[in-house]
Amino acid sequence: MPKQDPTGPAFWEQRYRDQVMPWDAGRVPDLARAFIASLAPRSRVLIPGCGTAHDARAFAEAGHDVVAVDFSEAALEAARAVLGKWADCLRLGDFFTVDLGSPFDVVYERAFLCALPRHLWPRYVPRVAQVLRPGGMLAGFFFWNDSERGPPFGLKPGELEALLGATFHRTVDTAVTDSIAVFQGKERWQVWLRN
Ligand SMILES: C[S@@+](CC[C@H](N)C(=O)[O-])C[C@H]1O[C@@H](n2cnc3c(N)ncnc32)[C@H](O)[C@@H]1O
Repeated sequence: MPKQDPTGPAFWEQRYRDQVMPWDAGRVPDLARAFIASLAPRSRVLIPGCGTAHDARAFAEAGHDVVAVDFSEAALEAARAVLGKWADCLRLGDFFTVDLGSPFDVVYERAFLCALPRHLWPRYVPRVAQVLRPGGMLAGFFFWNDSERGPPFGLKPGELEALLGATFHRTVDTAVTDSIAVFQGKERWQVWLRN
């Protein structure tokens, strides 16, 4: 797998090893914290492409049943240090193929869809739908940008609705006020329920 191909782990592995992670907030965004606090106790939560797993830790600390997946071993090394006693929620594997067990109440999205080249987006939608229970939530931060280049690969206006609209309906769409530099002014917090 060439190191410049973000569809494979080598691309991400190198960035974690070189500590070049401009997407990594190193903290939990305010809207994610509020969402975590609003969930039913012991909700079953999947975090695809969890990276250093600060968000996974916040879900676990709140008592939720978290599975955090990433295909980069270097990401999981960093995540283990962040998660401490909750590190057993981590799974090394490809989101599209790894066995994740019973359906989830929530799939949490932050900087995962935009890490995937656009040709993978039509695979993301059925995979998320497959791992969620009916009525389950796809919740998180979505990134819009006109540039063709990435990662991060930005959505165009109307594109997320076109991708998700047949399988999900949106219940929340909120501006984000504490974005890090790469996502500033280009991301929104949204919640989509699986039909
Ligand atoms: C831009 S980073 C975001 C990490 C984290 N969500 C965050 O907000 O900091 C994208 C992550 O997705 C992981 N990733 C990309 N494609 C993946 C796949 N098919 N399966 C599992 N992990 C994947 C990468 O290794 C990387 O850690």
